[in-house]
Amino acid sequence: MKKLIAISLLGILSACNSNPTAEKPDGAENYALMCAGCHDPGPGHPGTMLLEQAGRPVASLIGRDDLELEYLRAIVRQGLIEMPPFRPTELSDAEIDEIYAHIMSAKPPVTTPAKPVKKGS
Ligand code: HEC
Repeated sequence: MKKLIAISLLGILSACNSNPTAEKPDGAENYALMCAGCHDPGPGHPGTMLLEQAGRPVASLIGRDDLELEYLRAIVRQGLIEMPPFRPTELSDAEIDEIYAHIMSAKPPVTTPAKPVKKGS
């Protein structure tokens, strides 16, 4: 009887062992992990702040429609002034392409001013 209980416990344990979080992160997850800290909209994001100073019409990456895949690949591999380069062991070519696809398809967050802007007077 004890043996039977042990065997059925084993069965339950091994059924729990399939780990769903072991999957590869997708473009959105890699963007959030590797890029968002510097490139999300708003203050406190050095990429966004420097690109705003550089006069880009949209300072965050999400919401831009002028980024070419080849350009983004080159920046991610080589870095750019303040931006560190990423090695293929950190992000594969396919993962960079997935991040690009995410940037191009994601909707920028709606930003509304804290106070309504007064017109006139
Ligand atoms: C440590 C902060 C940091 C991280 C992390 C980072 N970047 Fe950047 N990135 C910057 C900064 C800062 C600039 C602006 C270059 C400058 O003026 O120094 C930049 C510029 C860029 C540009 C050029 C945009 C343009 O208008 O010329 C692209 C494209 C870019 N980053 C993509 C990415 C992607 C994709 C990731 C994630 C894989 C990423 N960056 C991660 C800081 C970062």
